[in-house]
Amino acid sequence: MAVIDQGHRPSAPQPPAGDGPFLSLRGVSKSFGAVQALSEVDLDLPAGQVTALMGDNGAGKSTLVKVISGIFGPDQGKMRWGGSEVQLRSPKEATRLGIATVYQDLALCDNLDIVQNMFLGREAVRRRLLDEGSMESQARTTLADLSVTTVRSIRQPVASLSGGQRQAVAVARAVMGKAKLVMLDEPTAALGVSQTAMVLDLISRLASSGIAVLVISHNLNDVLKVADRVAILYLGRMAAAGPISEFDTQKIVQFITSGTAADRVHPRPGAAGGGTQGAQEL
Ligand SMILES: Nc1ncnc2c1ncn2[C@@H]1O[C@H](COP(=O)(O)OP(=O)(O)O)[C@@H](O)[C@H]1O
Ligand SMILES: [Mg+2]
Repeated sequence: MAVIDQGHRPSAPQPPAGDGPFLSLRGVSKSFGAVQALSEVDLDLPAGQVTALMGDNGAGKSTLVKVISGIFGPDQGKMRWGGSEVQLRSPKEATRLGIATVYQDLALCDNLDIVQNMFLGREAVRRRLLDEGSMESQARTTLADLSVTTVRSIRQPVASLSGGQRQAVAVARAVMGKAKLVMLDEPTAALGVSQTAMVLDLISRLASSGIAVLVISHNLNDVLKVADRVAILYLGRMAAAGPISEFDTQKIVQFITSGTAADRVHPRPGAAGGGTQGAQEL
């Protein structure tokens, strides 16, 4: 039942740079007692593309991210990673595969500097001493690769950074561990206009470098600017998913608020066509 990239599979074991769903979920369900947080969710996250995960409060977005990052085991369903079925038993396993999550609170330590934050918990050690030189140069390279140029010194404490810069450091920390999938929870929620633009730009660059990106966002403007694909959860079901070109603002809002877009979508019985997945019970 897994639908995996058949046309463009590269021969190298590396993730494909731009084609095919790199991560695929099929029929993923998760309940907490009587609450069915996710019901038979299908989701494809292609490498090199930004997928926006949308949905009202309680729709199941965070639960889905936690399943993908190995925090919750799903009750049912399958997960494929680069074409192979995987079962994530812990966040460590997810990290090892190359799944990185940037949570809303960013989990940065204000009193530590940028380099210290980027290496927190995985400090480079040489002859039992911290290898500051190597950490600095890796941090500098990663930030430069992401075109993060507004930071004055990588030795400045994170407390002195703007919201956008903090977000950039959190993203840099995530990708420095050789991430192949980066998930960001509301990365622009607390940011002003120009910082939002900077972070959206950073998200686009992550995808351009071949990483699969999942962004949780409530902000339609952001989504329309940066997303290649949209996936909309409604009460734990995947109400719609597909390329952004198949959606407009009105349709997205309808799917978020009612789980369906009654006005303009003409369901074909028995077909999950057009990239939308089985949600058109009218
Ligand atoms: N750890 C948990 N224990 C019990 N219920 C939970 C837990 N996490 C989420 N839920 C419930 O699952 C549903 C989906 O929540 P969540 O994934 O946080 O939604 P979203 O992130 O879209 O707002 C909600 O009804 C929520 O109350
Ligand atoms: Mg949430």
